[in-house]
Amino acid sequence: MRKKIIAGNWKMNKTLEEGQSLASEVVNIAADEVAADVNLVLCTPAIHLGAVASITKSSDKVSVGAQNMSEHESGAYTGDISADMVLSTGASYVILGHSERREYHNETNAQLGDKVKLALSKGLTPLFCCGETLETREAGNHVSFVNEQLKDSLFDLSAEEMQKVVIAYEPIWAIGTGVTASTDQAQEMHKSIRDSIVSNYSQSVADEISILYGGSMKPANAQELLAQPDVDGGLIGGASLKSRDFIEIAKSY
Ligand code: 13P
Repeated sequence: MRKKIIAGNWKMNKTLEEGQSLASEVVNIAADEVAADVNLVLCTPAIHLGAVASITKSSDKVSVGAQNMSEHESGAYTGDISADMVLSTGASYVILGHSERREYHNETNAQLGDKVKLALSKGLTPLFCCGETLETREAGNHVSFVNEQLKDSLFDLSAEEMQKVVIAYEPIWAIGTGVTASTDQAQEMHKSIRDSIVSNYSQSVADEISILYGGSMKPANAQELLAQPDVDGGLIGGASLKSRDFIEIAKSY
């Protein structure tokens, strides 16, 4: 069964105090207002994970995730954080392959494949991001481009591993731009991702995998995007920084 997931990617925003306040607000409001079958995830800066996880611990609706982790287990990698470290904070998710990491830190499909495998082996749920540039879409190559990202990073996982992955389709041209993919564009890509999982694995594996949409999702457009048959949730940037907006998105499911 595909889980409904509304995840907030705080990116490099919020001091510790601000992050703690935001997390407390989300936990408190979610308890009264968010449906029991909607899972919320707060992907905070790594340095806030432990503090935020101790706030969400009491909640059965809100979990915590990191925004990245190393593909190495441990060792001399100054400034990096390991899967074990992420887990030890109480976090259970990790975003991998966000387009900002791919662009500013040159993360490759092969490296991301290693990160996904390591995360899974430790029991963390990877939120694996994929998505094309505007140029790729305008050239009509968006479907094959995203397929290639999935093939290179995910499709040598076993079926058992694969069904634990969450995928986030985030068209780069829609991130932080205020331009959202139309419902047809989102559904087309989500269906193509699911079809590709069916052909590389099976229908039953594809039926387990939540595929989230990300890119300028906000209260005003969430409902129609979340109503698409292959959209199982959202990965929210800007609108996750205000508890009310984030909760309204979750409520529109
Ligand atoms: P925005 O919602 O700010 O467009 O960001 C989307 C995103 O990159 C989430 O990971």
